[in-house]
Amino acid sequence: MSLVFKRFASRASSGAKYLAPKPTNGPTHTALSDAQKAYLDRVIRVDQAGELGADLIYMGQFAALGHHKELRPVIRHMWDQEIHHHATFDALQTNLRCRPSLLTPAWKVGAFGLGLVGGMMGKEFAMACTEAIETVIGGHYNTQLRVLSNNFGDLKDLETGETTSSAEIRHLEEQIKIFRDQESGHLNTALKHDAQKARPHWLIFEGVKLITKTAVYAAERI
Ligand SMILES: [Fe+2]
Ligand SMILES: [Fe+2]
Repeated sequence: MSLVFKRFASRASSGAKYLAPKPTNGPTHTALSDAQKAYLDRVIRVDQAGELGADLIYMGQFAALGHHKELRPVIRHMWDQEIHHHATFDALQTNLRCRPSLLTPAWKVGAFGLGLVGGMMGKEFAMACTEAIETVIGGHYNTQLRVLSNNFGDLKDLETGETTSSAEIRHLEEQIKIFRDQESGHLNTALKHDAQKARPHWLIFEGVKLITKTAVYAAERI
């Protein structure tokens, strides 16, 4: 439990560990259209809120199940990756000047509560929650990658005149790909640790998927 408080305190005071590439001096490409700007803003807002939530869900799970010899390193590894995802989107949010979700306090309480209560319900229950969340997030990241690769390649490089996407967008795509693969690793970990033995599995799985989808929908907009 002390690790939960230590982690919480250290991140609250030291801020993000991840540093996104520094913005270049002046634009390298023609400006994004209004629709592209609006979409990018939405991506950063929902992903920052989502990764903040994931960080706190694993913090809650760790608080409840950290005493479990087998699960402790497993949850801690996933939590460490979520801390990195969270810090990355914090930095991107600052660099790209996107406003955070207005529901951030609710995400914090809800996510920590879901992790803690899920963990207190037992190993299988917690893993079924992880299975549901990571299923939704994998699909969510794949959708974003499709839109970023299909709709952001029409910017003109101011030096060469070539039509490409900007370095900022390519960097974002790379990060999302890495995170999508790690989230899929979390999904496999949950399955390996008896997620599907939770009872009633269908209810926990569908219920938590619905909660996650609703949160994604709200964080994109509010
Ligand atoms: Fe994540
Ligand atoms: Fe994850």
